[in-house]
Amino acid sequence: MKRIFGKPLITQMEIEKRVKELGTKITADYEGRELVMICILKGAYVFFADLVRNIHIPVSVDFMMVSSYGAGTSSTGAVKIISDLSEAIKDKDVLIVEDIVDSGLTLSYLYKTLRSKKPKTIKLCVLLDKLERRKYETPIDYIGFTIQTNFVIGYGLDYKDNFRNLPYIAVLDEGEAEQLLNHRER
Ligand code: IMP
Ligand code: MG
Repeated sequence: MKRIFGKPLITQMEIEKRVKELGTKITADYEGRELVMICILKGAYVFFADLVRNIHIPVSVDFMMVSSYGAGTSSTGAVKIISDLSEAIKDKDVLIVEDIVDSGLTLSYLYKTLRSKKPKTIKLCVLLDKLERRKYETPIDYIGFTIQTNFVIGYGLDYKDNFRNLPYIAVLDEGEAEQLLNHRER
C-alpha cells in the first residue's frame, strides 16, 4: 500500500519509541527470571515481534490463537481458543502480549485460563487500551497507548482480516476500506 490509508492515529515513529520503552521496562522487571512471552494471534504478532527484539534478557516465546470477534467490528461475546500453547507454563514467569483491550473479555478469559496452568507469575501487556469500553475488569501491567473508542487498524490489527500490514495505527474509515476490498480481482 503506497498511499496513506485511513486516518493515522499513532505513527510508525511513535510506536517504535513506545515499544522500546516497554522493552526496557520489561527487561528490568524480569532480570534473572525465566520469562515466557505469549503472543495472542493474530492481532499481536507485529507488536510481539518488535517487542521481543527490545527485550535484552533470554526469553522463550509461545503462541495462542483466540477469536472473540467475527469478521466485523463488534465482539461476539464469546472467546474461542483456536490453537493452544505448545509448552507447559507451570512455574514459569508468563507475560501475555495482546494487541488491544476493549471490553476486556478476551484478556480476562485468557488470564483465568492461563492462571489455572499454575505459572509462577502472570502479567499482561497490551499495545492499545480502550479504557472507556471496559466491561470485564482485568489488571493490565504494561500498556502502550490509551486510545478512544474508535475502531483501529494496522500494526497487526485488522478489519475483516485485512490491513494488519499497515506500519502505523489508523482509525478505520469503513467506506474507504470496503471500497479497497471490493475492488480487488477475484
Ligand atoms: P475485547 O475482548 O472486547 O477486549 O476485545 C479484544 C479483541 O477485539 C482484540 O484482541 C482485538 O482482536 C479485537 N479488537 C477490539 N478493538 C479492536 C479495534 O479497534 N481494531 C481491531 N481489533 C479490535
Ligand atoms: Mg485479537
